[in-house]
Amino acid sequence: MPAFGADELLEKDQIEAVADYVLSLSTQTAVAGAVGVELYAENCASCHGGAGEGGREFGAPSLADQIWLYGGEKADIVAQITKPRHGVMPAWTGRLDDTTIKMLAVYVHALGGGE
Ligand code: HEC
Repeated sequence: MPAFGADELLEKDQIEAVADYVLSLSTQTAVAGAVGVELYAENCASCHGGAGEGGREFGAPSLADQIWLYGGEKADIVAQITKPRHGVMPAWTGRLDDTTIKMLAVYVHALGGGE
């Protein structure tokens, strides 16, 4: 995701407002003011979904649940919007043989109901 703070796409107070809105999604509480709502719709909804449900096509996680990759405190959310972390999975070639990787792929696929 874009570095909204580091690349000066959003001002500090805008980041605060959109972070408050993100917190309101996961805690299902009302947020004061429409600024965060508008900023979210303009900058975040394309990847994270209109209601924060997440977007599979971009690998954008849900922001409306209690599961956080990088923490659900306001400071964590502000940090992610300002200068995002991007998760990287280590490569397993050479550590697992081809047959084991195939067996794991079939198993993981089945975890998602074969979808
Ligand atoms: C281009 C798509 C895209 C846009 C636009 C985008 N994000 Fe993200 N966001 C992602 C992806 C992908 C991740 C997962 C980062 C990773 O680990 O690689 C993420 C992660 C996050 C996280 C961390 C979630 C967690 O579980 O800890 C937060 C919070 C977040 N985004 C908020 C926002 C906000 C607020 C905006 C708008 C200001 C925004 N994002 C705009 C794609 C996007």
